[in-house]
Amino acid sequence: TTPTTTLELKPSAHPLSDTERERILANPGFGRYFTDNMVTVKWTEGRGWHDAELVPYAPLSLDPANMTLHYAQTIFEGLKAYRQVDGSVATFRPEENARRFQRSARRMAMPELPVETFVAAVDALIAQDRAWVPGVGEESLYIRPFMFATEVGVGVRPANEFLFMVIASPAGAYFAGGVKPVSVWLSEEYVRAAPGGTGEAKAGGNYAASLIAQAEATKHGCDQVVWLDATERRWIEEMGTNNLFFVYGDKLMTPELTGTLLAGITRDSVLSIAADLGYEVTEGRLTVDDWRTGNADGTLTEVFACGTAAVVTPVGTVHSARGGWTVADGRPGEVTMKVRKALLEVQSGAVPDAHGWRHTV
Ligand code: COI
Repeated sequence: TTPTTTLELKPSAHPLSDTERERILANPGFGRYFTDNMVTVKWTEGRGWHDAELVPYAPLSLDPANMTLHYAQTIFEGLKAYRQVDGSVATFRPEENARRFQRSARRMAMPELPVETFVAAVDALIAQDRAWVPGVGEESLYIRPFMFATEVGVGVRPANEFLFMVIASPAGAYFAGGVKPVSVWLSEEYVRAAPGGTGEAKAGGNYAASLIAQAEATKHGCDQVVWLDATERRWIEEMGTNNLFFVYGDKLMTPELTGTLLAGITRDSVLSIAADLGYEVTEGRLTVDDWRTGNADGTLTEVFACGTAAVVTPVGTVHSARGGWTVADGRPGEVTMKVRKALLEVQSGAVPDAHGWRHTV
């Protein structure tokens, strides 16, 4: 079957007024408000992708036996559209999100959406709801593509019907009052992902399973959880929904993609940007003890986390059941801030697009 890339446009006839939208854009927070429209594309066994539409944002009506509600065949992506310094709007590496969405689909026994359809759907929604892209700077329009089973029934098997959707939500600057380092809790009780599991897929269930560990971190007064490997419980994997970077002077190291880490697009971008800035970058492995001793002897100078939502976040303190430590002097490091600035500059169109990452909508 040939995939549908032509979207039928039936946008909202009653979008929010300019005043209401401006009021929301003045203080959008993260993921609280949604734009006027959404995209839906159906997939049916034997027929493939069909009925691509851009329609008014509205609730869905679901049968109680909708298979997603029971067995969680659901995946998502996250990317941002930034207002460029020249006033245009561009997304950041959307094809990478489309490709990861295909890999997630494969792992979860779901149909793969063609890359062109994914990008066309995102573009169509942004083009229609362009007024929702905030002004220049660190604010953005967060785009949430997702797919879930729509077949009705409680038999356990891959569904034969799915819905792909795209919604969008204005996002304020993550650090409104200036960049603030986070405190992290090393989770030794719970793991995020195990070899052979779904850790590499952006599947809803991974996030559901992570919430108890995040709650434990909060209980210990920490902002975020740090995940260790499932087998030995000593290799550092990720922080919350972010990838981690360890800075040793002018050398940067990030945990390698062993199959249990989410292959962050920001992670990949930071690897390139740090190299462009003249740092030496490697993908490797690091244990909790390596982190502790590197910190104590001063060789480890900075640690930061990165992801689409928070961009680049310094790690300030580490806590665990067996004590903790302050990362260097606990303040945002120089390398961290340089990488953060360089990334935001390429995302917002303030510097030439050396890697061809910007996708103008
Ligand atoms: C990230 O951008 O860090 C994410 O994984 C998105 C989060 C809202 C789930």
